[in-house]
Amino acid sequence: MSQPSFPALRMRRGRSAPWIRDLLAEHRLHPSDLIWPLFICEGRGCDEPIGSLPGVSRWSVDRLAAKAREARDLGIPCLALFPNTPAALRSDDASEALNPDNLICRAIRAIKDAVPEIGVLTDVALDPYTEHGHDGLLDEHGCVANDDTSAMLVDQALVQAAAGADIVAPSDMMDGRVGVIRAGLESGGYCDVAIMAYAAKYASAFYGPFRDAVGSSGLLKGDKRAYQMDPANAAEALREVALDLAEGADMVMVKPGLPYLDVLAAVKREFGVPTFAYAVSGEYAMIEAAAAAGAGDRDALILETLLAFKRAGATGVLTYHAPDAARLIGG
Ligand code: PBG
Repeated sequence: MSQPSFPALRMRRGRSAPWIRDLLAEHRLHPSDLIWPLFICEGRGCDEPIGSLPGVSRWSVDRLAAKAREARDLGIPCLALFPNTPAALRSDDASEALNPDNLICRAIRAIKDAVPEIGVLTDVALDPYTEHGHDGLLDEHGCVANDDTSAMLVDQALVQAAAGADIVAPSDMMDGRVGVIRAGLESGGYCDVAIMAYAAKYASAFYGPFRDAVGSSGLLKGDKRAYQMDPANAAEALREVALDLAEGADMVMVKPGLPYLDVLAAVKREFGVPTFAYAVSGEYAMIEAAAAAGAGDRDALILETLLAFKRAGATGVLTYHAPDAARLIGG
């Protein structure tokens, strides 16, 4: 592109006052860009703070109606739900994942009863239900068994859909699971339930606080590098996304968020489909720690970070900062 040079062109003219900065802004945050992840626990009246996620709690099911109303009033269109399954209900075969009355199903129903117009997204993966903290079933060598796990994920997705989930989000990274889940939803009569594939999910050190929140960190044996992606790889992410789209994903996700903005931008450019970023628990914790240490202004850090996702091409962002951000944007 040819453009005049200085002094005919002075870039600072476009930055000289708030009104012109507003006028020329290429990207804007809106509360409708946000998905708010919530952690759920058993009990009544519970608000259990999570040490490694300051400001975030686990809520019992009876508290979720209030959270759903808060989200609606803030203009947040969708909630993502994650259960902290009681230890006694975790097993090798993760059978609690298929219990139609498990924590996640009761949570979905509570939210849909209170605020039917809000979207509910549920995670499809077995880690909140296994004794070993892996996302799938282990074979005799201790390896996560791809096809047996996928078969179970179909049933898990159907149980969640029956409870009222609007979007099921496979976060397990098994090969071929989007295709079988789509087929299962179609034959089960849930053709309107959408799939958001955790298509490019990396084996990341930024998930620590999440594993505390769902109670799997003490359980996890080894790591997840045999199924989650290698942080060294970007081209591979495009192959993962292509596969999930071909299998019927309605939308895709890149996770974590900030350290993978290059991947997010490449996915959006290449496929042009709804593409979400997950600003994961460790990213939230970093911002909170930085603000607590006086290294930056918390509100500004939150908004700049979320805007960076939009600039990179995100359709929306899953973030534990969703209610704070919605308040900041709204006010
Ligand atoms: C589990 C799952 C994880 C997250 C979302 N779903 C953790 C993991 O893969 O170990 C992480 C989210 C976060 O860190 O905020 N399938």
